[in-house]
Amino acid sequence: MCGIVGAVAQRDVSEILVEGLRRLEYRGYDSAGVAIISNDNELLTTKRVGKVQELTKALELNPISGGTGIAHTRWATHGVPSEENAHPHLSNGTIAVVHNGIIENHDELRKKLQALGYEFVSQTDTEVITHLVHHELKTSDSLLAAVQKTVKQLEGAYGTVVMDKRDKDNMIVARSGSPLVIGYGLGENFIASDIMALLPVTRKFSYLEEGDVAQISRFEVKVYNTYGEPVEREATEANVSHDSGDKGEYRHYMLKETYEQPTSVRNTLEGRLSGTELNIDTFGHGADEIFKNVDHVQIIACGTSYHSGMVARYWLEELAGVSCNIEIASEFRYRKSFVPKNSMIVTLSQSGETADTLAALRLAKEIGYTSSLSICNVPGSSLVRESDLSFMTKAGAEIGVASTKAFTTQLVGLLMMTLAIGKHHGMPIEQQQSIANSLQTLPNKLEEVLTLAPSIEDLAEDFADKHHALFLGRGDQYPIAMEGALKLKEISYIHAEAYAAGELKHGPLALIDAEMPVIVVAPKNDLIEKLKSNVEEVRARGGLMYVFADVDAHFESDDTMKVINVPHCDDIIAPIVYTLPLQLLSYYVAIIKGTDVDQPRNLAKSVTVE
Ligand code: AGP
Repeated sequence: MCGIVGAVAQRDVSEILVEGLRRLEYRGYDSAGVAIISNDNELLTTKRVGKVQELTKALELNPISGGTGIAHTRWATHGVPSEENAHPHLSNGTIAVVHNGIIENHDELRKKLQALGYEFVSQTDTEVITHLVHHELKTSDSLLAAVQKTVKQLEGAYGTVVMDKRDKDNMIVARSGSPLVIGYGLGENFIASDIMALLPVTRKFSYLEEGDVAQISRFEVKVYNTYGEPVEREATEANVSHDSGDKGEYRHYMLKETYEQPTSVRNTLEGRLSGTELNIDTFGHGADEIFKNVDHVQIIACGTSYHSGMVARYWLEELAGVSCNIEIASEFRYRKSFVPKNSMIVTLSQSGETADTLAALRLAKEIGYTSSLSICNVPGSSLVRESDLSFMTKAGAEIGVASTKAFTTQLVGLLMMTLAIGKHHGMPIEQQQSIANSLQTLPNKLEEVLTLAPSIEDLAEDFADKHHALFLGRGDQYPIAMEGALKLKEISYIHAEAYAAGELKHGPLALIDAEMPVIVVAPKNDLIEKLKSNVEEVRARGGLMYVFADVDAHFESDDTMKVINVPHCDDIIAPIVYTLPLQLLSYYVAIIKGTDVDQPRNLAKSVTVE
């Protein structure tokens, strides 16, 4: 989704802005732009459609420089990707604005501003903010006051930054629905939609809260809440490596992040599980008391995070003896749902900023959920800040749009949550110890599974000319099949669906022919014989299968089936272990198809709009 970077400094900020945009590229975008107030108070802008590299080339040919500037990567919502629609947007050559989010009442505001004589040059919703600030400035004594009046008229979501060329020492920022983080430097300050953009210049950050408007100058940051009262937003040091944004020896972030999984799981376990002892403080203050009183868990998430929640339902009901529902956030937030007594809402998100998930959490609090927990990969994100408890996955920055290590570490967090809740609901101590022991074996098991990469790369050849694929799994492997299908469609653009293998005969069997590859996940568990029967159903109809099977499950390759033997692992961690071969399969298929693996078409990393 869109990305924002801004800086107020004494030095030239053009390189800081462009490097910030480059570091936000992973979020997905279609055009980029920058506006800088030069030392002689000129407002200079450059915009380009396409990659940040296009913008960089344009700036090399015609450099612009100055100490105050804003920059933006745009992911089109209103209006096609074009230079006119790219941000920053200007009003009367004096006001410049960048904006993330969607202004829902833009039509009505546009008409009002047109009646006042403003001419619109783009089809964007953002341009209304620009002219509105310009208009309000006529009756305000400062840019801050004009922005405060402006945001009161906006409906929808915004993270916005406003500059006025006549006031180059300040920029005004405002947040409602789209995150913004302030970065503190020495004699210079910054704003961004994601700390990643600012890591080369600072590690000290504070997050704006909903409704905040702030004035940022070189030596001072003043924040005002939604009522216009001055407030403090605590600044903290971010513990993220400067190099998180580098691909290292890997061709793509997705591959790097797939290979990082043994380490991210190790980091996620570290300090949380000593031997078989779970450190309950990991979930935050009062976690034990909250878990003791939970009788029902409602999980809410989107996309890949939703799939990890689906696995957790199997774990919570089977192992912890607690009832659990899981729902897609965009559905949950728009329906009236029944809230069982003593229910906890659990939100899952890599970014912690997914608009639908955040809205679902807010709704859950309103309708009577007694407690909330978020499992998230970004400290300080909105979901974390707005939940009673949180579990931070320690996956490290995930840049590839296709989620990999965030998913597997979420599953680790969910299994620990199952332990923490199960302990209070009669889970026998031996079972607790056995789960903890299995978790401790996980990083090494993932390392073993990654050695399958060359055979999976060979397998990928078979998919290059296919248009569809079916993924099958049973029990807690059904969500893993769904995740495998999502990965394949997301990065290779092959249409893929997943089914619980027992459902085949209720419809999808009709699709089976030699053109429909069927991928099966087959760990050796209680359902393996049932799964083998489903495999026979496919074989009898001439289907071609690719089976990721436990070495001890005795599947053998033949004319109708290619088997990849997966090292044996404990049942409980099998959903995590079997995820990796499917990630690798989709990656290698995408490589053969030549797609943009890290930034697949039409997608964004952090979905901060509805
Ligand atoms: C995963 O590969 C996807 N890019 C997407 O489904 C993602 O998981 C979803 O948008 C939710 O994001 P979140 O985890 O940051 O909330």
